[in-house]
Amino acid sequence: MAIIFDESRHLFMIGTENTSYIMAITAGKYLGHIYYGRKVNKPAGEAILRVKELAFVDRDFIGEKGSFGDGYPFEFGSAGIGDFRESCIEIMNENGQIGAEFIYRSHRIFDGKPGLKGLPATFANENDAQTLEITLMGEVLGIDLILSYSVFEGSDAIARHVRVVNNGGSTVYLNKINSACIELNNKDYEMLTMYGSWARERAISRTPIGYGRHSTFTTRGISSHQSHPFYAVLGKDTGEDSGEIYGMHFVYSGNFEGVVERTQHDELRMTMGINSYNFRWKMEPGEEFIAPEVITVYSCEGIGKMTRTLHDLYRTHLIRSKYLHKKRPILLNNWEATYFDFNMDKLLDIARCAKEQGIEMLVMDDGWFGKRNSDNCSLGDWKVNTEKLPEGIEGLVKRVNEIGLEFGIWFEPEMVSPDSDLYRAHPDYAIAIPGREAAQVRSQYVLDITRDEVRDYVYESVANILRSANIRYVKWDMNRPMTDVGSILYKGDTAGEFYHRYVLALYDLQERLTSEFPDLLLENCTSGGGRFDPGMLYYSPQIWASDDTDAIERLTIQRGTAMLYPLSSIGAHVSDCPNHIVGRSTSFETRGYVALAGTFGYELDVTRIPEDDRKMIPAQVAMYHKYNDLVREGDYYRIANICDTNEFDAWMVTSKDKKEALVTYIQVRGAANIRSRIITLKGLDPDAVYVLENSGEGDAPCKEFYGDELMNIGFVTDKIWGDGSGRLYHFTAK
Ligand code: DGJ
Repeated sequence: MAIIFDESRHLFMIGTENTSYIMAITAGKYLGHIYYGRKVNKPAGEAILRVKELAFVDRDFIGEKGSFGDGYPFEFGSAGIGDFRESCIEIMNENGQIGAEFIYRSHRIFDGKPGLKGLPATFANENDAQTLEITLMGEVLGIDLILSYSVFEGSDAIARHVRVVNNGGSTVYLNKINSACIELNNKDYEMLTMYGSWARERAISRTPIGYGRHSTFTTRGISSHQSHPFYAVLGKDTGEDSGEIYGMHFVYSGNFEGVVERTQHDELRMTMGINSYNFRWKMEPGEEFIAPEVITVYSCEGIGKMTRTLHDLYRTHLIRSKYLHKKRPILLNNWEATYFDFNMDKLLDIARCAKEQGIEMLVMDDGWFGKRNSDNCSLGDWKVNTEKLPEGIEGLVKRVNEIGLEFGIWFEPEMVSPDSDLYRAHPDYAIAIPGREAAQVRSQYVLDITRDEVRDYVYESVANILRSANIRYVKWDMNRPMTDVGSILYKGDTAGEFYHRYVLALYDLQERLTSEFPDLLLENCTSGGGRFDPGMLYYSPQIWASDDTDAIERLTIQRGTAMLYPLSSIGAHVSDCPNHIVGRSTSFETRGYVALAGTFGYELDVTRIPEDDRKMIPAQVAMYHKYNDLVREGDYYRIANICDTNEFDAWMVTSKDKKEALVTYIQVRGAANIRSRIITLKGLDPDAVYVLENSGEGDAPCKEFYGDELMNIGFVTDKIWGDGSGRLYHFTAK
């Protein structure tokens, strides 16, 4: 890890463990991007920019600014002055005119990494990180642009963000602001994005990059089920273990847009930032705007290496919760067990039975407040329903604790039902455009938490309940996208601030909650995984990955999620069959193996599931306790996935010291007359001898293998019978 400024050649060289990121100052003015990729020790320098090759610039490339701007690889392209590619910043003056030219003014390199006020971001202490801040100035309007790059000891990630400061004497408007840009020489690259829907989050798509702009984005006000604030540019042949990949991951939970543009000169410009749809930020003199953080990663060892870089970064420098490195209590959530149809007795029955099986926490989901017996009322009325819970929350928690379980509770704090006391008293608390009835989704509106009084109401509603009883866990849900975006606070020339102000308000709420209740285990959720993003991960160590709990569907959902996020953050439960979302039946063991690749818990009525399934819970609990340290802290490798094989799925986790590995193999579809499968493993010590624990059936001796044998020749999986059957294989080095 090192950041160097080579004064004689005006080069900034940012070095991570295995990568280099290089910029140059051209003619003492322009900041250009030279290179990002595999580590180089002696870069060629500015020549690569070929500034005089563009049409008309051979005589005086600075004087011929328009032509120059059309091809120069600006580190942070600005709209309106001759760079016609996807811009990073668009500034409008008071007269509505767009254009600002940014030239190099100064830079500083220092140890550590400062936080981003009001925003989630990676953190590090002085020994762990180094930061480069480059200040560019927009002379005419007096705008300073501070580009920030931080690198971390032992990591190949770069954390970037941008600050815009209005040091001029007049008001300006930020119409667009990206957080990061990368310029690449195209090598017939592809674009990898994530797409999906409710209950089908984070599927992977790879497409060729033709000329023009290609984007992944959302305008739903949340990072969304449909897309993800991540994309990558990668080689056609890049696979799990080889090939190049450039990833950009946005630490943000609202509207975003990532764009790859293939230009007239067959170069690529990659950008990522807040979506400029309905965005306009008014900046009075003296004000600053912080564009959220983007994590960039380059790997020349395939997608898998990028995955592990992100996992390590997030486990070391993003997730703050005390629970990060702890085994989470095995919880049972009553949503799929009872939906709205429960009362204290029912919950206590479940709790007693759960305790007998070794489950450690009961989480009471939606339906405990107001008169909420279905999803069409009461959001906002966070008062216990005493018909269901006659002894209140406090009484219930006491009883659950007496049974020997911890207690957790569900909220959907950002919402209000039209049929609620809150809405009847304060209809103006809901987001709406005056004169038009706002669209309902799941019979609810979104609260305008940008207003202090609304935000305080929301906060106190949650905090009061938490103060009243021994509650160890909160599931913070959010079940609709934003529409009809109107606020009494942000209107006229600040109306375009609303979406981002909302996200800032959400972060403020979560910051308050985690500060007042530092021991609380917080799990974020948005109709499943609709706001599963690095921003939310800063506040909660785990996020509910999807409302689809079917083990087979989860293979794809969790594979996409785990491409970016550590397994310890992926909310995953064993649920009942036939599965409530897709109607499929899968063995109880397989459901357990799939949930083990996440936080692991239950989402079923343990008093009513088949006796044979219930009997398996103690063994599953033991399995979780045995393997969770490894799963939570280890290196994750994808081996095969159902989308490619159409028959089976497999992944593994290896401990950092390579002494232990756990392989999960799921035969999704059985087939006639096939041989057992050979699987080759990854991430082992080639010279170590690994012992494969016997499966516990019969007296079969443990088998031994060399690491290089497992990684090259592989090992033979059991021949298994049926669809959706699975096995765990546990290897330990001798
Ligand atoms: C959506 C969540 O994803 C579910 O797990 C559940 O909490 C429901 N909301 C409750 O309404």
